[in-house]
Amino acid sequence: MKKILLFAAGLLMAGAANAQNTTTIKPDTQKIEYSNMLFGQFIEHFDTQIYGGIFCPGNPLSDEDGFRTDVIAAMKELKVPIVRWPGGCFVSSYHWLDGVTNPRVPTYDKAWQVEDPNTFGTDEYVKWCRKVGCEPYICTNAGTGTAEEMSDWVEYCNQTMGKWARLRAQNGHPEPYNVKYWSIGNENYGSWELGAKTVDEWGPLVRESAKLMLAADKSLMLFAAAQSNRNWTMPLLQAAGRYLNYVSIHGYWDSLQHVDNPKSYINCMMSTDGPERDINNTIAILNDAGFGEGKIKIAFDEWNLRGWHHPWHGDFRRGFDLEARRNNDKATTYTMADAVFSACFLNACLRHSDIVEMACFSPIVNARGALYVYPEGLVKRSTFYTLYMYANDLLPYVVPTEEDLTQTVSYENRSTKALDVILTSDKDGKKFVYAVINKDPQNEVSLTLDFKGMGKTAKSRVSAKILAGEGIDDYNDIGDESVKPYQTTLNVRNGSVSIPAHSVTFITID
Ligand code: AHR
Repeated sequence: MKKILLFAAGLLMAGAANAQNTTTIKPDTQKIEYSNMLFGQFIEHFDTQIYGGIFCPGNPLSDEDGFRTDVIAAMKELKVPIVRWPGGCFVSSYHWLDGVTNPRVPTYDKAWQVEDPNTFGTDEYVKWCRKVGCEPYICTNAGTGTAEEMSDWVEYCNQTMGKWARLRAQNGHPEPYNVKYWSIGNENYGSWELGAKTVDEWGPLVRESAKLMLAADKSLMLFAAAQSNRNWTMPLLQAAGRYLNYVSIHGYWDSLQHVDNPKSYINCMMSTDGPERDINNTIAILNDAGFGEGKIKIAFDEWNLRGWHHPWHGDFRRGFDLEARRNNDKATTYTMADAVFSACFLNACLRHSDIVEMACFSPIVNARGALYVYPEGLVKRSTFYTLYMYANDLLPYVVPTEEDLTQTVSYENRSTKALDVILTSDKDGKKFVYAVINKDPQNEVSLTLDFKGMGKTAKSRVSAKILAGEGIDDYNDIGDESVKPYQTTLNVRNGSVSIPAHSVTFITID
């Protein structure tokens, strides 16, 4: 009896493995030119992200400004378009003047309970961004700071007159920096945030801060700390929406802040639908508040599968375990789960790229970064290669598609579709690149491509770039970078290709 049941189960599995998954170009829709700011980054004054990360004066790998040249080179590989700074929780008790007053005096960083030497401040940040070739994006202190302190920072960066512009000139920078992107606050809704605000306080504070900042430079693109739930964000939009260009939302789906026990690959796959849920919820709030159709865009300006480890942040009586932060450096944490999840996140943003205009991976260096930087060099972790493929190998337009996906992957009482698909094209719609993700940890999955919709005849083989590692738990470490994409071709049978297990697979059709 047992053998018959197993045989039947085998047939079911076989049937499932051959079940059809199709992607079809939506008729009568327009392709969307997405913003490359979807591939943005975030860096914070936390642990070794700045000091010991991007800024290592005296290190043989650093330039005359103390900036790690290997890190700059890696960021150029990612074509990083924008970097958000200086926080993050750090910013909610940061006073920007400490970072531009010479000589620099160290201050106590109440957010992370360490001393900040202030040798990396606004001038160094802007100079570093110029060397990376990215836009600066400054997040201001709406915790312990004031609307005036925020607008004074704008004056320091962008004005040509007044005492703050004169201070910038005295510091050797007579020309305005023209920092275009500014966020009012960081997660001011959270009890963990210094100077946290109530819902009733937040809207008016954002409104008055926006007015002052725009008085200092009316051309600013303004963001405010928001959430994908309406209790916080609807009152914010009602009070200050008319001044905002973006709402800023954040997401970390493996909460390792206090206990560092990374979720398994398959458990992480169950979170891959989370980013799109947050995006759809935020879009609904924007629509209901009258700021839909792009009047206000979404900036997912902190995102990472893995929450940073920093016990016991937010428990100000218990205090912080500073040494535990070293657990963020464990190479084994960053596996194909991170690479596959990150690709699903970026596909979700690309599907909604008419509204989602920016996303900042959090952070770029150390902590949970795509780069692990140590005194003698750096490691490109698995997610680096996902970011690399999206920044370098996709085409500039998203072509709306609809998928009929039958296979799922499951864990405990949850499940998700095995495949995640987006299609991109060139301006003329002659060349196409699919970004296909197979979350299944062990099975390749078939996908039927829409050659007809692309105006192409079905090929017998297609070019493919695949990031899969040597297994779901594969990771990169010093001297061992086995997780890297490779170029190959895939057979096409009846218009279908087989997508390797646990992979990010880009397929080029030209
Ligand atoms: O864990 C890091 C923190 O995550 C950032 O400082 C904050 O913005 C978010 O809560």
